[in-house]
Amino acid sequence: MGCFLFLITFVGTLFFSSIMNLSVAVDTISLAQSIKDGETLVSASQSFELGFFTPGNSNNRYLGIWYKFNSSTVVWVANRKNPTTDKQGMLVMSDDGNLVLLSEDKKVIWSTNSSWVLENPVAQLLDSGNLVIKDNINMNPDSYVWQSFDYPSDILLPGMKLGWNLRTGFERYLTPWRSADDPSPGDFSLRLDIDELPQLVITTGSRKEVRSGPWNGRQFGGTPFSDKVVHNFIFKAMLVHKQDELYYIYEPFNNTVKTHIVLHQSGTMHRLVWNWNTTEWSILYTWPFDPCDNYAQCGANNNCRINKMPICECLKGFIPKAEDEWDTQGLSQSRKCIEKSPYDCLSGEGFLKLPAIKLPDFSWSNNRMNIKECEAECFKNCSCRAYAISDVSRGNGCLMWFGDLIDIRECPPGFGWGQDIFLRVPASELVHYLNKKKRIQIIAVVSTFTGIFIFVLVLCTVWKKTKNRGLESREEEEEVPFIDLSTITAATNNFCQANMIGQGGFGPVYKGNLSTGQEIAVKRLSNNSGQGVEEFKSEVVLIGKLQHRNLVGLLGSCIQRDERMLIYEYMPNKSLDYFIFDDERSKFLSWRKRFDIIIGIARGLLYLHQDSKLQIIHRDLKASNILLDNDLNPKISDFGLARIFKGDDKEANTKRIAGTYGYMSPEYATNGNFSVKSDVFSFGVLLLEIVSGKKNRGFCHADHHLNLLGHAWVLWNNGMALEVKDVRSEDSSFESQVLRCIQVGLLCVQMFPEDRPEMSSVVFMLANEGLLLPQPKQPGFFTQRGFIPGSTSSSKEKYDTENAMSITTQDGR
Ligand SMILES: *[C@@H]1O[C@H](CO)[C@@H](O)[C@H](O)[C@H]1NC(C)=O
Ligand SMILES: *[C@@H]1O[C@H](CO)[C@@H](O)[C@H](O)[C@H]1NC(C)=O
Ligand SMILES: *[C@@H]1O[C@H](CO)[C@@H](O)[C@H](O)[C@H]1NC(C)=O
Ligand SMILES: *[C@@H]1O[C@H](CO)[C@@H](O)[C@H](O)[C@H]1NC(C)=O
Ligand SMILES: *[C@@H]1O[C@H](CO)[C@@H](O)[C@H](O)[C@H]1NC(C)=O
Repeated sequence: MGCFLFLITFVGTLFFSSIMNLSVAVDTISLAQSIKDGETLVSASQSFELGFFTPGNSNNRYLGIWYKFNSSTVVWVANRKNPTTDKQGMLVMSDDGNLVLLSEDKKVIWSTNSSWVLENPVAQLLDSGNLVIKDNINMNPDSYVWQSFDYPSDILLPGMKLGWNLRTGFERYLTPWRSADDPSPGDFSLRLDIDELPQLVITTGSRKEVRSGPWNGRQFGGTPFSDKVVHNFIFKAMLVHKQDELYYIYEPFNNTVKTHIVLHQSGTMHRLVWNWNTTEWSILYTWPFDPCDNYAQCGANNNCRINKMPICECLKGFIPKAEDEWDTQGLSQSRKCIEKSPYDCLSGEGFLKLPAIKLPDFSWSNNRMNIKECEAECFKNCSCRAYAISDVSRGNGCLMWFGDLIDIRECPPGFGWGQDIFLRVPASELVHYLNKKKRIQIIAVVSTFTGIFIFVLVLCTVWKKTKNRGLESREEEEEVPFIDLSTITAATNNFCQANMIGQGGFGPVYKGNLSTGQEIAVKRLSNNSGQGVEEFKSEVVLIGKLQHRNLVGLLGSCIQRDERMLIYEYMPNKSLDYFIFDDERSKFLSWRKRFDIIIGIARGLLYLHQDSKLQIIHRDLKASNILLDNDLNPKISDFGLARIFKGDDKEANTKRIAGTYGYMSPEYATNGNFSVKSDVFSFGVLLLEIVSGKKNRGFCHADHHLNLLGHAWVLWNNGMALEVKDVRSEDSSFESQVLRCIQVGLLCVQMFPEDRPEMSSVVFMLANEGLLLPQPKQPGFFTQRGFIPGSTSSSKEKYDTENAMSITTQDGR
């Protein structure tokens, strides 16, 4: 039977070969057939192609597989370490059923080297991009004697396994190209670490560079990309644990979508998705993403918080190790934190929850325990430092840590990854913490865990402590003073017209001189907020607590009769619009200065969005609301007004649209939907204005009717983005920085809020040279006329072109 089939195939092959000078199926090579340099093998549905290629500026020839639709993306290289130098290479199917790559002088350069003996060996390039060798007689699709998917290069294609054969110990992992010209394996590898719960790691040798945090039943729990692995419509990722195998694998939901993971020579992993429209790869995520991703960035027993300064903070119950002792484990330059007081497991130690973090490395796991048993077990053993649930999808399983807690990072607000961990803390910490929340609870906790004696003792200490703390904090929270109306009237010369220095959406601004000689800026709020006096006062107190070098400082407030006023420090250099849009004055702003201003505004806005205790959405970010101090440092002003004027704005939608055309995001201008992402849009506009020295609204160009956003987008698409730059600032050495700014600006002004980055990413992208950034798509509101689709005529009437004035309008829906 076997012989018979063999005969038919053989004859068939001969027959077609002679007629068409090609094999029957273009995707296979059978016995005695070959692929010469210059010829290619194409998979059945034309997804992949195999052949010889020369990378970059190299002179070497390699055998590889690439996408048929993008031949510059080589997904696999056979002879990575062993190139040929001639163009006469040849891939042949040898008698023993191996693929052999021969050079011109018939030397073996590379071979599949499998020890099976096949009756009728066939090598086939599958539509998955997998090159397989199988027996044509035994057609069982799973019985490949060899497959290229077992020997990945730098790309993980859908269906490829990243991980282990547990029986043989065979591991499949990615290694990057050494350079764009050289596919030989670089120093990094992306692998599945199974020493503990499985986690993805990028390593150099045995050293971990980045780790994903353990698989928690749903995702790798501790990376910014975790979220995108679970919540995306592009692919589904799995961790497969069979008897003999443990691996990571993914599949696109729809095969028309092309996606893969690539490990770049820099040791950075990218998830790419092919954009059929632009015929380019776009980056879905990058890993490591920020400094907190770097392995043990902060040393032992620290928490890395990307939005805070400094980013490292000792965990509760730990203090920095003595000043002169640096972490000697070679983990990083940052300091190790050590226990405040040694654990003795007697005096009412307990556990404190640290929410939404990447779990530390080196865990000990037990799948059968539930969380209660886990806590009890950890509590019993004095050297157990922390515990957590191991499988969040089933809600049980136990992880414990003994010894130092390494590589913890916080999940920034607004991201959905991260897991809770319960840290062992000494009684003092526990009580201290609980006391802040509910004094009642500690009574229960402490008394059950310890005797009455200890309880009384502890409570006494705590009482003392909080008493002291209370005093301290009262001193710290110096409230914003209320200033008398008469003082202000005198300072502003009775609000005389000559003293008026600006007019914002919420009222005019006056310059004033206090009798002490101090200069102030007084914002006289139009009294249509419908807000009570008490409410206004409490708002002012909140705003007074916002302290950031890129926010203008509130000196005081005034509420008397119908007047409501905010008193700010006076900024002598006026506002940003005064400089950037003026031919002469813009000369003062070198590119370096502009870049500092952009970063400063981004930091201030990040503080408003995430870092202060309140989340504040500015809603009217624009050049005239950026004040400049003596050194031209930017200070965001008007940031409290959005809150003060809240009315029914607590929800993410408002009927009162306050903002400035040209800066408003599409969803806000048309529907009144606002969020931090609408501020990000305004920031993007502002950024492009600073780079270009042109106003978005009222931008004109001889060739088109686009606004600044559209103009920048068109130039970007044509590879001429540098032309966006203000011609008057001519430092050409900063080109890459300028380009990055423009790219970030375009990302910020994307049509849909979900496509815009958070301010934390913006700050990070701006500050980090050499990051691969996502490609922007078409911005929202990019034509001159399209500035407010669907707006009511009344809101148009209120629009003031000349001054780009803030508007406050009632949407008539
Ligand atoms: C082929 O495999 C044999 C045995 O597995 C091994 O000894 C030999 O080094 C391999 N040759 C190549 C070129 O990989
Ligand atoms: C896959 O995507 C293509 C093109 O977008 C679409 O025509 C097709 O219906 C999709 N298939 C499935 C199974 O969703
Ligand atoms: C490609 O273009 C089509 C039509 O313009 C659009 O619907 C689709 O969303 C675009 N796809 C991507 C990935 O941008
Ligand atoms: C292939 O992809 C690269 C990277 O996205 C892109 O720069 C290049 O233009 C593409 N080539 C073709 C032929 O589409
Ligand atoms: C605590 O746990 C460690 C690590 O598992 C173990 O070596 C030690 O024996 C345990 N101690 C007790 C008292 O159970």
